[in-house]
Amino acid sequence: MRMVDLIQKKRDGKELTKAEIDHIIQNYTKGEIPDYQMSAFAMAVYFKDMTTEERANFTMAMVESGDQIDLSAIEGIKVDKHSTGGVGDTTTLVLAPLVAALGVPVAKMSGRGLGHTGGTIDKLEAVPGFHVEIDNEQFIELVNKNKLAVIGQSGNLTPADKKLYGLRDVTATVNSIPLIASSIMSKKIAAGADAIVLDVKTGAGAFMKTPEEAEELANAMVKIGNAVGRNTMAVISDMSQPLGLAIGNALEIKEAIDTLNGKGPKDLEELCLTLGSHMVYLAKKASSLEEAREMLKDAISSGKALETLKVFLKAQGGDDSVVDHPENLPQAAHTFELTADEDGYVSEIIADEIGTAAMILGAGRATKESEIDLAVGLMLNKKVGDQVSKGDSLVTIYSNTENVEDVKNRIRSAYTISKNAVDAPPLIYKEIK
Ligand code: URA
Ligand code: CA
Repeated sequence: MRMVDLIQKKRDGKELTKAEIDHIIQNYTKGEIPDYQMSAFAMAVYFKDMTTEERANFTMAMVESGDQIDLSAIEGIKVDKHSTGGVGDTTTLVLAPLVAALGVPVAKMSGRGLGHTGGTIDKLEAVPGFHVEIDNEQFIELVNKNKLAVIGQSGNLTPADKKLYGLRDVTATVNSIPLIASSIMSKKIAAGADAIVLDVKTGAGAFMKTPEEAEELANAMVKIGNAVGRNTMAVISDMSQPLGLAIGNALEIKEAIDTLNGKGPKDLEELCLTLGSHMVYLAKKASSLEEAREMLKDAISSGKALETLKVFLKAQGGDDSVVDHPENLPQAAHTFELTADEDGYVSEIIADEIGTAAMILGAGRATKESEIDLAVGLMLNKKVGDQVSKGDSLVTIYSNTENVEDVKNRIRSAYTISKNAVDAPPLIYKEIK
């Protein structure tokens, strides 16, 4: 097989066989297909697309390019949740203990990564003592015992995707549905999930700006998952403004605790109940979504979800007193209020700008080497649709420095106040199975 012929075949809009796709991915991973040919191939896919079968084969070829996590020693159906990313998305911290409380095994492999706040592991490390340096054996043991454990990323997962993603970044081929869908799905499948619930975000703060684009990506991923034997469904949810109220590491831990206590922001709670219902249902712990939702609500009101969080934190060295005493989490030295300049209604909160403001405070990493300040971040006091009077606090800034002018300017430019009443945007657009 010659790569040039395979590029030409895709350029001409023809369907590649499984053997051809395997050839491309295997040899690209080994370095035998050079970047310039892979770039041309990615561009051909960008313009000519892939059939569902090609997408599934492409995904599995990337899964097979590296290590795959074997979770077979864990009892039950392992359901993973994946979010396509946004600002202040606290869902994982709520969902993991919430569904684990119902006996759904949550074997979470998580990263740190770049972004407005840290990744799930950074956030959890806001709990004094908590660590993810456990070995695989301990990890499996803890999931079997407590239904929940988190481990850092290890091993050589989907090296083909890592290499290709880097190449796409510099060849204007990131924004391609077949390439995005196979990239995301390959990582979930290699991480060992039996079933997958996808939270595809849409809006200004998301990768997919419109609900239509988000639906196209969701459909693509659901089809790939189901084609390769992993029960997959997707929820399309709003990220036109940040989710919940907290953006920051310790602040999001506190927000998750509040939500598991039944006292969290309504949008975060609703999205967690929706995603959680699907997880519980796919794990076959409930016979309908309605039943699953009732079980989740019971786990919150009975305190079972919070108890599961305590057990999980303690098992990985964490100080579980933070659950009843969130003041034991890292605290910022200063707080500042950003107030409204006029009367009216909040009509827009540009999620990206809010995220950048949090990052400037030190809540997230700008580069791999940056240190995160776990205590700092933002609490939104007003969201889209809320009425405000001049002088009301829009956002509370938690900072370890006294000069927050830059942060204030960012937040000011993120908020739009209109004279006329505005409806809050819908939280959930669609569910795709
Ligand atoms: N996130 C991924 O993991 N892959 C993509 O291609 C795009 C976003
Ligand atoms: Ca949040």
